[in-house]
Amino acid sequence: MKKSKIKILLLMFFAFLLPLQGCIQPGTPEDTDTEEENPGKTYVGCYETAEYVYQSDVTESCLTTDLSAEYLLLMNKEQTLGADYIPASLTYLTCPTTKSIQLETRAAQALYEMFKEMDAAGVDDVWVTSAYRSYEYQSGLFNYYISLETNHCANNGDFSTDAYACLGAEYLRVNYLDAGITRLSTADARRVVLSYSAEPGTSEHQTGLCVDFITSGMNGSLTVAFENTEAFAWLKENAYKFGYILRYPKGKEDITGYTYEPWHYRFVGREAATDIHFGNLTLEEYLQLAGA
Ligand code: DAL
Ligand code: ZN
Repeated sequence: MKKSKIKILLLMFFAFLLPLQGCIQPGTPEDTDTEEENPGKTYVGCYETAEYVYQSDVTESCLTTDLSAEYLLLMNKEQTLGADYIPASLTYLTCPTTKSIQLETRAAQALYEMFKEMDAAGVDDVWVTSAYRSYEYQSGLFNYYISLETNHCANNGDFSTDAYACLGAEYLRVNYLDAGITRLSTADARRVVLSYSAEPGTSEHQTGLCVDFITSGMNGSLTVAFENTEAFAWLKENAYKFGYILRYPKGKEDITGYTYEPWHYRFVGREAATDIHFGNLTLEEYLQLAGA
């Protein structure tokens, strides 16, 4: 689909949202402000002429939405890339990380710019703990989670909160606790794990286009506690300026297929990220709207 058609579709969509959102003239410096700071204004098409405060040559080069662009590729439960997919261009991250990890080159450059701005804003308690993951790495992770869920009750005296959220308290009581069974069946463990971890060959991490952030207060665990950090507050307002989006938002679990992950950010380029951010969209919704 041509870019002009995509824009018309998106503008129609945003026009529908106008009564719900505010209103601002495109192309003014305030475009980068938050909706809360600009009540009564809208953000329609702001990326077209906006003076992004946090510009860089790198992120600027990702302003044009070309739906065939590699950084817009979709990886989810329905659309998979298979075991053999390896990003064409991977580079080691030079921003703060918990270990040596790689990311697709443009995504890594935009991330580097984003870290510079976070640092300038005084947000320095934040690291990248996961980025590109190979099929094999994801297999190990997935199997580890299956084992954790299977044995969680036997090891900790109760099933995990994810097991309760996924299977329900009644189901766990009737099928396990009342019967004195402390190990989840493989099928049930798999259902639980699939709510928060991708099967090998279906993880967005295999695209090399996403990162998981962590802070020192999280003790090495990725939990929704990330939502209460300074880093999350900053990312929520600013990540789109660097082409990054919150990939698994709260309330969109039916669309993304995964529980809320405040720590997982995906690079899609600045134009798409701006539409997704202000349109409160998921990548799935955006690509469908754009006719991809
Ligand atoms: N946690 C995300 C969904 C993954 O495993 O890729
Ligand atoms: Zn992730």
